[in-house]
Amino acid sequence: MDQILVLDYGSQYNALIVRRIKDLGVYSLLLPNTITAEEIKKMSGVKGIILSGGPNSVNDPLAPSIDIKILSLGIPVLGICYGMQLIVKVLGGEVASSKIREYGNTSCLFKTSSPLFQGLNTDSIVYMSHGDTVVKTPEGFNDIASSKSTAFAGVQKDNIFAIQFHPEVTNTVQGKGILSNFVFNICHANKEWSIDNYIEQKTKAIKKEVGDKKVLLGISGGVDSAVTAVLLHKAIGNQLTCLFIDHGLLRKNEAEQVNIAFKEKLGIPVKCIDASAVFLSRLQGVTDPETKRKIIGKTFIDVFKEEAKKLGDDFTYLGQGTLYTDKVESGQGGTSVVIKSHHNVGGLPKELGFKLIEPLDELYKDEVRELGKKLGLDEAFVSRQPFPGPGLAIRIIGDITPEKLSILREADAILLDEVKKAGLDKKIWQYFCVLTSDRSVGVMGDQRSYMHTLAIRAVTSVDGMTADFYHFDMDFLSKVSTRIINEVKGVNRLVYDITSKPPSTIEWE
Ligand code: XMP
Repeated sequence: MDQILVLDYGSQYNALIVRRIKDLGVYSLLLPNTITAEEIKKMSGVKGIILSGGPNSVNDPLAPSIDIKILSLGIPVLGICYGMQLIVKVLGGEVASSKIREYGNTSCLFKTSSPLFQGLNTDSIVYMSHGDTVVKTPEGFNDIASSKSTAFAGVQKDNIFAIQFHPEVTNTVQGKGILSNFVFNICHANKEWSIDNYIEQKTKAIKKEVGDKKVLLGISGGVDSAVTAVLLHKAIGNQLTCLFIDHGLLRKNEAEQVNIAFKEKLGIPVKCIDASAVFLSRLQGVTDPETKRKIIGKTFIDVFKEEAKKLGDDFTYLGQGTLYTDKVESGQGGTSVVIKSHHNVGGLPKELGFKLIEPLDELYKDEVRELGKKLGLDEAFVSRQPFPGPGLAIRIIGDITPEKLSILREADAILLDEVKKAGLDKKIWQYFCVLTSDRSVGVMGDQRSYMHTLAIRAVTSVDGMTADFYHFDMDFLSKVSTRIINEVKGVNRLVYDITSKPPSTIEWE
């Protein structure tokens, strides 16, 4: 399949470049900037290379660079912001700190004689975000765009293009046209990418790889492992066995919902293991958040191993719902395998001698959701809010007891119900209750009470890395508070968490 590589120099917009190219119908991949020309030569279908923006200054001796041979592979190159400055610098031009730093929207003049701007309006708004500027272009480069602060907003030599602004952000009015010109007019890439094609190609590839062998997949109830299960099942049917380990730290009715979604709606058999007793006994009396996480992670592996053994030793493959972003976040985009921590059974495959099969490892979260829907998963299941591997254990501050779990489950179910009824479930990234370790005095029915304080946490976010608390209206909060205090025994005070991330985190532990 034709593809455009994006070399990662650390810009916050990198994933967006890849996304825009895929939206044009061409496959794209974010790769580490340390990739060599030799490695690229070995890849098939590479039609173009984009060097992304990044936070560094190319004049910093420690700044990331490029294998200069990449620029003479004969494959068209587009440098964006830092990527532009890098091309200029390594080819002998000069980059200096700008007198006028440019952040935000700027008017720019394009030379439409360059294939990069062909067919576009000459005068256009672009989004700039840079401290350094090109002051001298390398030999043979022509300027193809200018703004009021730089004559070199865009430069070109043959099939090497470089622009100071970001075409991937929507503020750049003709950004899509620029990327489209690069991908189709300059790289001559074919439109071969779509979720439907992905399903078809992956299904074939899985069948070919697995042959008549068997695959074991741990499902967590989350979207990624669910979509992995459906895709694997489509490809290899009952050669797949799904294992769902209930650690006793799930939300109300969650285990049943997973069962229904898989067995009844999709016809995929799931072996459910109720391991709550072992998890809860190992967690008894534990209050330190990190210790809780470690115990859960280790117990998960122990239970998984034991169950895998019981199922027999004829599983050649372990399926995992690793996404492309999981690899990139661990700094290992590209070909190396990374196992997500905890709920993707970190460390397990090597020990047990499984081969890994990760059919979503080229996709981003929103693409996985789209894929899930195409494969028949319910909209409601596919758009579920993220839920942490350690589950409710990190939403109960202090030690975990069955009584506290029950309080939290009931309260959380009420919040979920009210958020859904108010039509807010698509607007809020995550919304849940936290059982604090505080108890306080209250008065209920003329009686003094001394009960738990419960907190509500609700945040908006794009990727979970940063988040803002959600601004509920007071009537909503008041309704939830009344329902929880009335319906959940053991809670007499409710508070709303109004911190963002940073300085807080989304989860309390
Ligand atoms: P924090 O609390 O770090 O959470 O702001 C960011 C996002 O990650 C989720 N989260 C986890 N997910 N295993 C997971 O699979 C974990 O151990 C874990 N801890 C936090 C959290 O729910 C939020 O979406």
